[in-house]
Amino acid sequence: MRSRRILVTGGCGFIGSNFIRLVRAERPDWEVVNLDKLTYAGRRENVEDLAGDPHYRFVHGDICDGGAVADAMSSCSMAVNFAAETHVDRSLLGAGHFIDTDIKGVLVLLEEARRVGLDRFVQISTDEVYGSIGHGSFTEDDVLNPRNPYAASKAGGDRLAYAYWATYGVPVIITRASNNYGPFQYPEKLIPLFVTNALRDLPLPLYGDGHNVRDWLHVEDHCRAVLFVLDQGAPGEVYNIGGGNERENIEITRAVLRLLGKAESLITPVADRVGHDRRYSLNCSKLNRLGWQTTMPFEAGLEATVRWYVDHEAWWRPIKDRDGAFRSYYEQQYGARLK
Ligand code: NAD
Ligand code: TYD
Repeated sequence: MRSRRILVTGGCGFIGSNFIRLVRAERPDWEVVNLDKLTYAGRRENVEDLAGDPHYRFVHGDICDGGAVADAMSSCSMAVNFAAETHVDRSLLGAGHFIDTDIKGVLVLLEEARRVGLDRFVQISTDEVYGSIGHGSFTEDDVLNPRNPYAASKAGGDRLAYAYWATYGVPVIITRASNNYGPFQYPEKLIPLFVTNALRDLPLPLYGDGHNVRDWLHVEDHCRAVLFVLDQGAPGEVYNIGGGNERENIEITRAVLRLLGKAESLITPVADRVGHDRRYSLNCSKLNRLGWQTTMPFEAGLEATVRWYVDHEAWWRPIKDRDGAFRSYYEQQYGARLK
């Protein structure tokens, strides 16, 4: 590889910020460029510990903007694209930004990667591109069947990345991870929303019958897997990254309440998400065969995560209390459901 400079897009978000921290710790000689638009989900405070680090540069910009991408990618030999609109419920309120960032933005990045001749381009995809599965687990060769606008836009970016490998030989690697949990997750997703609501004795709006299943992956395990495929993965390949921790939403909800010592009466069944995928499940033997394993047991990871939100109220309270965008989203999403 030429330089040891890596472009990380979406590095002010949940997984991207954890990934940058891991790279700085594990690859101290690498330089990291973080290109982030700072949407509602992108928080400068997620990476404030990196301020002043001479191996780190922040570029405020949009992956849909060719000029910003060219600036950020210059002299890089690797890129990992975390930047995306990521919340299914928001994609149900309007999918325009999802198409822009999760498909068109990927195209802009791939074009630049092709132009500068990157050595590696990792596209962070998701298990949601496969759709829902009743029994068994999806392998990388299974047909994609995305069933909500978020999943469909991610499938577009996923296949576009593959097309740039197949057509132009851009050394693309695609990862499809399951539901992440851990520190710095914006409090709109299940676990941080329920933890922060419970801490204030607010209702926990559980969709439908609460028996939908997700496979929970600690964000550090995910980040280690991405670094692992960057080193060991083969261009043109797809790798599933699962946590091996399938749980029903009601189990997660009860576990959160138990850890916080809060009453189950906070659980409030509400109208289901439309088109709600019943179960996600990944077969990860391809990555396991290469030598990757998760390290975080789910119960320990959940306890540490709940503790993180308890200890970091100064991180989430301004979002929930003072951020008008969060409050209007919450009202739109839950107002009628909770009446
Ligand atoms: P997040 O919503 O916490 O962060 C997304 C980041 O991308 C934010 O910092 C935001 O400002 C930035 N961003 C959005 N649009 C941008 C644009 N046009 N240009 C530049 N930056 C932009 O998301 P996350 O949970 O950290 O997810 C990161 C990636 O991992 C996404 O691609 C997502 O699809 C994928 N993924 C997430 C999960 C999960 O459980 N969170 C699971 C599997 C895959
Ligand atoms: P979420 O964290 O939004 O991730 P995804 O939809 O990408 O899997 O939701 C996880 C599960 O929790 C999903 O089955 C929907 C459910 N859920 C609720 O029951 N209530 C909520 O308020 C939210 C945000 C999610």
